[in-house]
Amino acid sequence: MRDDAPAPMLHNLGSINLDHVYRVPHLVAPGETLASHDYRVGLGGKGANQSLAMARAGARVCHWGRLGRQDAWARDSLARAGVDVTRVELVDEPSGHAIIQVDDAGENAIILFAGANHGFRGSDLAALVEGAAEGDWLLLQNECNGLEGLMNRAAERGLAIAFNPAPMAASVLALPLEQCRLLFINRTEAAGLAGLGADAGAETLLDALAARLPACELVLTLGGDGAWYHQGALRLHRPALSVEAVDTTGAGDTFIGYYLAARQAGLDVEACLARASAVEVEALLAAEAS
Ligand code: RIB
Repeated sequence: MRDDAPAPMLHNLGSINLDHVYRVPHLVAPGETLASHDYRVGLGGKGANQSLAMARAGARVCHWGRLGRQDAWARDSLARAGVDVTRVELVDEPSGHAIIQVDDAGENAIILFAGANHGFRGSDLAALVEGAAEGDWLLLQNECNGLEGLMNRAAERGLAIAFNPAPMAASVLALPLEQCRLLFINRTEAAGLAGLGADAGAETLLDALAARLPACELVLTLGGDGAWYHQGALRLHRPALSVEAVDTTGAGDTFIGYYLAARQAGLDVEACLARASAVEVEALLAAEAS
């Protein structure tokens, strides 16, 4: 890349959800009816959260998504934050949504309805990939359909794929993960991909994943236990900054967005981890203040 060439674009094929967030004294138990003490509805979805974070971090990001026509305000919120929304299609289907309980200890439980996020046709995805330039990044999560074909096509086109396999599901194991340049994983996702128990240590998880995907950069996020990076001979650990979590919803998405924005800005791995970790804490503190 020439010095004056623009940094590769960050494309994000990502879910856009309407988040219905209920504050509750505890997560509802089977058969229980529980009163909430606060309710808000707002823009969410792992994909949209990550695009917002990238834009707020100053990155050039283009969101690829689908949203019910009546919810155009969600697309407009992304646009106001600086996200290129020209590839967000308004459709005659219900938008994706999430029912989120957050308890007084900051624990959450989420029910997802995929809606329009699962309406991508192979031909639409092919056209989106064709519109991206070789060397651009493509970020994916597991809340949209069509990932297998998209990964293969994007890799053929020379895009650098970053994948966050969240929410983790058995279907992720069948994806062509060797096509990915970078994986963002938490403990559950890493354990699921490595075929290990969730009590496995961070370095055991990294060793197992590195053996399976040797070319892939691994970013393992462990909340209060910090974040790890592994690729080839390079392994780094960044301790977490200390904060008492009141609502962790979306904090991981913020980490990913800021990490990729720092990467687009040409920072080294250590600086990317530092920036993403600091802003994840800010996201937690903002949730506390709201
Ligand atoms: O990661 C948090 C997100 O997960 C929420 O915004 C919700 O929509 C679900 O996708």
